[in-house]
Amino acid sequence: KNFNIALIPGDGIGSEVVSEGVKILKEIEEMDAAISFSFAEFPWGCEYYLEHGKMMADDGIEQLQPFDAIYLGAVGYPGVPDHISLRELLLQIRKGFDQYVNLRPITLLNPSLTPLKSKTEKDVDFLVIRENSEGEYSGAGDWLYKGKPEEVVLQTGVFSRKGTERIIRYAYEEARKSNRTLTSVSKANALNYSMVFWDEVFEEVGKEYPDVETYSYLVDAASLYFVAQPERFEVVVTSNLFGDILTDIGAAITGGLGLATGANVNPERNYPSMFEPVHGSAPDIAGKGIANPIAAIWSVSQMMDFFGEEKWGEAILSTIKTILKETEQLTPDLGGQGSTKSVGDRFVELLKDN
Ligand code: NAI
Ligand code: MG
Repeated sequence: KNFNIALIPGDGIGSEVVSEGVKILKEIEEMDAAISFSFAEFPWGCEYYLEHGKMMADDGIEQLQPFDAIYLGAVGYPGVPDHISLRELLLQIRKGFDQYVNLRPITLLNPSLTPLKSKTEKDVDFLVIRENSEGEYSGAGDWLYKGKPEEVVLQTGVFSRKGTERIIRYAYEEARKSNRTLTSVSKANALNYSMVFWDEVFEEVGKEYPDVETYSYLVDAASLYFVAQPERFEVVVTSNLFGDILTDIGAAITGGLGLATGANVNPERNYPSMFEPVHGSAPDIAGKGIANPIAAIWSVSQMMDFFGEEKWGEAILSTIKTILKETEQLTPDLGGQGSTKSVGDRFVELLKDN
């Protein structure tokens, strides 16, 4: 099978880590006669913005439409406001392709990576399913009386029946399929419209899944449990903003942003899905060649799973487990002396032996 992959390396370490992910894809192609990849690279991001006054081509979404998947590094650059770089590229793609499911595994692959004393791989192993198309990131709002004493800004959360039901239903399906518990995270005590609605939908849809054991936590309590009792969680479903924040906590308890991955999925497969590390362009280490490529490589594992090539998804994950034992050879964020490139090269060797 041939898979068409659109590469958007983006800015800073984004392009550095995507190169290593592509190395892995090419190795898979080499090792598996039944799989091949075609790549097309798109130079979009903040440098493109500085030159063209926009983050991507006007018909960018049309150009990406025919691909099987999009592989993105990160965007963001000092000098370009973050709300522009984020909204005009990343959120355009997530929205344009109705990638309403964001899958972020919170999986501890090596107990030495967690700052949580006495927690093991068994305790920290869950999946956060984040709503990815609306909610707090809808972009709706207003800015009134700018600069005046009566200045006021409104940022509106938009929770549609369709949008809320489909993400919650997806999560119930995932929990049922994998025989895991499902936890909804919301905040109905303070957000008296959106989150009351969320909780109602969670309960309503749940009637169709009597076999799935459910829990419902307020986001503040959930934040505490992520750190104090991560073993409570198996599958978690939550809104766009809460999912964004909670999964950074998830990254912190599993080895940091250098290991955190996320898939932006359109489950109906009407449009391409997008795979990316959770981290940003990291201007503080960009250009030094020391960014950890493992998050981006884990994204490749998610991509393989999505393509139905779970054999490769698992091979990559188990190779990540192996390479994480070679502390010396890892990048500085994990205490090693390796470089982005040396970790990528070593990964290819280990994948061959796997
Ligand atoms: P960041 O994720 O770029 O960096 C946060 C910290 O983690 C930095 O100290 C960085 O050096 C470290 N770090 C991140 N990834 C790493 C890796 N692979 N290996 C080693 N260390 C790593 O987040 P920050 O600093 O808040 O944002 C920087 C820029 O990235 C901003 O312009 C922001 O808007 C953008 N951004 C873009 C995202 C995307 O494209 N998906 C996501 C998050 C931020
Ligand atoms: Mg984030």
